[in-house]
Amino acid sequence: MDVKKLIEESNLYLMSTYNRFPVVLRKGRGMKVWGSDGKEYLDFIAGIAVNILGHCHPKVVIALQKQAQRLIHVSNFYHIEPQIKLAKLLAEHTFADRVFFCNSGTEANEAAIKLARKYSKENFNPGRFEIISAKNSFHGRTLASLTATGQEKFQKGFEPLVPGFKHVAFDDIPALKKAITKNTCAILLEPIQAEGGVKVPDGNYLKGVRKVCDEYNLLLILDEVQTGMGRTGRFFAHEHFGITPDIMTVAKGLGGGAPIGALLATNKVAAAFQPGSHAATFGGNPLVCAAAIATIETLLEDGFILDQCNRMSAYMEEKFRYLKEKFPDLIKEVRGLGLLIGMELNIECEGIVKSALDMGVLINCTAGKVLRFMPPLIVQKKDIDYLITILERILVKIMREQEKK
Ligand SMILES: Cc1ncc(COP(=O)(O)O)c(C=O)c1O
Repeated sequence: MDVKKLIEESNLYLMSTYNRFPVVLRKGRGMKVWGSDGKEYLDFIAGIAVNILGHCHPKVVIALQKQAQRLIHVSNFYHIEPQIKLAKLLAEHTFADRVFFCNSGTEANEAAIKLARKYSKENFNPGRFEIISAKNSFHGRTLASLTATGQEKFQKGFEPLVPGFKHVAFDDIPALKKAITKNTCAILLEPIQAEGGVKVPDGNYLKGVRKVCDEYNLLLILDEVQTGMGRTGRFFAHEHFGITPDIMTVAKGLGGGAPIGALLATNKVAAAFQPGSHAATFGGNPLVCAAAIATIETLLEDGFILDQCNRMSAYMEEKFRYLKEKFPDLIKEVRGLGLLIGMELNIECEGIVKSALDMGVLINCTAGKVLRFMPPLIVQKKDIDYLITILERILVKIMREQEKK
């Protein structure tokens, strides 16, 4: 494969919405991906928290192959076997009674916003449509989700945004209470702000938010697009905090790599959606549902993968603590839950991502100075050891350069 030519054509024919690295990825297995030039990489990004079982997990591949031979797509005018099975699996393992399927995280949030508005208008009053979300949050790129996102840098140039959204400081109950008016219908939060720099709230924050919602009759919408599907060591992150939402959005890891999103809700809230209220042509299509069933069944089988996630999380934390002690001037803080871990630096981290790529490790930088690690949940000690060796080498080099100045 002529990688140079492929990159030239990529730059020529694709809209330049991504600042892509000069690498073409072609093949993946487990923790590893290979470029078209044959170079091997260890993947600590996992498609941004998507490939929870690693690349091309055999159970997901077989499920896709079998389903592709049977039925790829039919309309939601009809009942669809894998969709029914997947909805049942999700309902059996979560707070939710009912599910609506779509194709992505942002679409799941759009659906959640519509459901919350309709439920509130019908059960309270027509003026009740305001949603409070958090500053520094991320909920997606379509217009309502983008408006809910509490970061101006993503919204710039797309105004006017959607009316009816307010942003308050994350992890701050008094600020939240202050923002509530008679028009508020819901509170939309990520249990952990992932894109915003892996910000983990105080252990009592979500309990406090649930209490506020109950007190003011507001819906609690949790965006578990990134934190769900075992990423934090429990099936969904809110399970760590001893609460349940009224509505939850899921995507990323749900399909083990296949593009699927879902909106989950209690019977009471879901009743606001009636035939014609909402739809998605591809939502819950047989192919992606088959992949999602295989993913959930594998993830929950014997609790083995969640145990592995928790063990590897503890191992990574120990290793990162060692790095923090060795480089106190470069590493400010390490935080996270399960295998969603952020390392906040005192310097911009994009250069470190580039150096790691050259050395065969895929890592991510978010919020400018936070290295974000979200490997497949099947990551092993040897993979983490390799990551640490690479990070140590890069940080030593940066430290030496700083000392020379
Ligand atoms: C918490 C959260 N919500 C929503 C989204 C949007 O998901 P998608 O890119 O699938 O639309 C993301 C994506 O990073 C996310 O992290």
